[in-house]
Amino acid sequence: MGRVRILPEILAHKIAAGEIVDRPASVVKELIENSLDAEATKIHIKIENGGKRLISVLDNGFGMSAQDAKTAFQHHATSKISRFEDLSQIATLGFRGEALPSISAVSRLHMRTVERNDTQKLSTGVELNFEGGKLIKSREIAWLEGTQIEVFELFYNVPARQKFMKTVATEIGHISKLVTYHALAWPHVEFQLHHQNRHLIEAPAVKSLEDRVCQVLGKTFMENLIGVDYQRNGIHVTGYTSLPHEQRRTSRFQYLFVNGRIVRDRIIAHAIRLAYQDLIPTAAHPVVLISLELDPAEVDVNVHPNKTEIRFRDSNKIHKSIYNALEESLLRPQDTLGDLARDVPLKYLQTRKFPHSQGNTSRRIETFFQRSPDSSLGFKELRQYVDKNRLEDFPVSLAPAREDPHSLNIPETADLSPIPIVLGQFVESFLVVADREGVMLIDQHVAHERILYDQILRNQANNRKIPTQKLLIPQIIELTAEQKTSITPLLDHLNSNGFEVEWFGERTIAVKGVPVIAKDCREIPRLMEEIINTVENEPSSHSTGGEAQRLSEKIAISVSCQSAIKINTPLSPEKMQWLVDSLFRCKNPYTCPHGRPITLRMNIEDVLRGFKRI
Ligand SMILES: Nc1ncnc2c1ncn2[C@@H]1O[C@H](COP(=O)(O)OP(=O)(O)OP(=O)(O)O)[C@@H](O)[C@H]1O
Ligand SMILES: [Mg+2]
Repeated sequence: MGRVRILPEILAHKIAAGEIVDRPASVVKELIENSLDAEATKIHIKIENGGKRLISVLDNGFGMSAQDAKTAFQHHATSKISRFEDLSQIATLGFRGEALPSISAVSRLHMRTVERNDTQKLSTGVELNFEGGKLIKSREIAWLEGTQIEVFELFYNVPARQKFMKTVATEIGHISKLVTYHALAWPHVEFQLHHQNRHLIEAPAVKSLEDRVCQVLGKTFMENLIGVDYQRNGIHVTGYTSLPHEQRRTSRFQYLFVNGRIVRDRIIAHAIRLAYQDLIPTAAHPVVLISLELDPAEVDVNVHPNKTEIRFRDSNKIHKSIYNALEESLLRPQDTLGDLARDVPLKYLQTRKFPHSQGNTSRRIETFFQRSPDSSLGFKELRQYVDKNRLEDFPVSLAPAREDPHSLNIPETADLSPIPIVLGQFVESFLVVADREGVMLIDQHVAHERILYDQILRNQANNRKIPTQKLLIPQIIELTAEQKTSITPLLDHLNSNGFEVEWFGERTIAVKGVPVIAKDCREIPRLMEEIINTVENEPSSHSTGGEAQRLSEKIAISVSCQSAIKINTPLSPEKMQWLVDSLFRCKNPYTCPHGRPITLRMNIEDVLRGFKRI
């Protein structure tokens, strides 16, 4: 027998299923897409054990006849395309006819459905039971409307895949993220997500994207977003994008939809980055929620097994549209961003209010520009300004020179203190410090962050309880569904790390106390968000000692970052010296817990070489 053989059908199907279904969230995605294609206006999802025990999706769409229901489980069976040409005009989310057979090949699946009729009464539907892709039972049932698909014991017959499933918290995290995404893409459809009988998402149909954002991401999320509405060359870009001071550490808060499909796309991501290029630091990411509507013929959706990547026929046109759409929105509220983005006369800045700012933005800009002349001046005016403000000749002591000044090649450094001495503060953000080795600039924020972080870890290592500062008024924080799932296994860790946090309703927490170190932290919600972000995707609550330790370290990183002295803060000489002394007592005074450098050095040799003295 030759070495090349045709695989048994069942094995081939299991392998094919692996491309489409790799974790519970991908089953949820396929089922939601089918419901949306069936014009459902209500989609209710129930999950047990992170989707490992049960994934149930119930919709009120147009359903199927008994005959179609059976056919739907055949490979390449679809109602969405019939000719090759249809592939270039796809207006539905599905088109491969592969999702149902793939899911049923790797689970025990029950489907109940009835074809839509306008009687609003129970009618005769069908229930089909599959096991490992085989139909094992079919019967008539009384069913009101739509379709329900229940997927039990996903991967029960693919042990290798089962092993790759992560903890319940991680899987449900992926599922909530996915449902959140769909809910944002389809505001007029009702979405519900339940896990172990707890509501994670409850989003009744709404009229606008704004209402949907408030429902699933919280009201505060909307505050720093501005609308996008741009239509040209057959492309309509709508949604929201963030003002420059709203910056995130990851691009997770960028939601992109193309014709209702959730996509990841490098061209769109690049256009977003470019639009914000001069507005935010390179390491920061804006919050973006945009939806593109264009002729389906302009998009090739058949390029990825999960249908999450697409290809545009004219990618330049798409890039330009996204860039222009964001730029137009960012420049529209002239009172806010125009000021931030361009050089503006100083007097203007001092009187200007930033309606969207969080209060301190205008102050920050003022202090930053304070010492510079009016930057809108032309070259001629600038020359006059410099001439008028010329320094008086510097009075030099006329004591007789004992030696020829040029013969003194090397300055005296023996007297320099071995401990670093503060010489001053540069732009209220960096300390200028000298020691025997030379001079250095120290970033006051990251230096303080390192000091606080080491202090927290020392307390932990000595098994000392981290002292708590009670808040006068508890801070109530609204969470997104995703954040809710991430914080649930975290609460115990927070409470044993100096916090006092408890549930205050379905999707809100009350922060009643914070570690004493964070007592001056003015933005508790931001601190909590930062903690959730940094520990997200961490293994679940059943932590071993090592994982618990890692979680505590991550909490310590967020607490120290949010509590440390900020940039643009004037410091007294005593405080600066304290910072420097404490910093050099740390084990690693050179990088902050995030890995950023704390000091920039210029050694004495560099200085001498630079001045051609050696
Ligand atoms: N919830 C539903 N309501 C009504 N019809 C459905 C539903 N789910 C599936 N179907 C029917 O079953 C067919 C097969 O579904 P399946 O998801 O396997 O393929 P598809 O959606 O056509 O393509 P893809 O594999 O890209 O998802 C669909 O074409 C549709 O006609
Ligand atoms: Mg489908």
